[in-house]
Amino acid sequence: MERTLSIIKPDAVKRNLIGHINQLIEKNNLKIIASKTHKLSKNEAESFYGVHKERPFFNSLVAFMTSGSVQVQVLEGENAIVSYREIMGATNPEDADEGTIRKLFAESIEANSVHGSDSSENASIEIAFFFSGLELI
Ligand code: CMP
Repeated sequence: MERTLSIIKPDAVKRNLIGHINQLIEKNNLKIIASKTHKLSKNEAESFYGVHKERPFFNSLVAFMTSGSVQVQVLEGENAIVSYREIMGATNPEDADEGTIRKLFAESIEANSVHGSDSSENASIEIAFFFSGLELI
């Protein structure tokens, strides 16, 4: 059993896609063990995406991630990190496989509907960024 952090991004929340995305998550045997709506501040978005701060898309990414509410969730299941990355599809929706969340719903490489942790170490850091121990079963 493994846990990963999922963020349903502002583009998807604005289009009422939380239910559609969670259906795909659950159909693929991942359990949503914690879930909350949050509006990221500029500081929070800059800190969460700190590893990207030298990238040319950083300021635009922070503006996008603070443009509306996000749904942050902890997913649990077998190989949850890799499994969720497969369910999400490639970062750029143009490269994403058929049936993946990003192929189905993403608008662009930036407004790509979902985020998922990319490693076990980052999953722990990202889950702790949004959730206290008491919020996790
Ligand atoms: P995410 O998986 O959350 O990780 C970093 C985010 O930066 C990515 O999804 C996209 O939303 C955004 N982004 C914007 N432009 C790019 C790019 N050229 N390459 C990678 N990520 C990008």
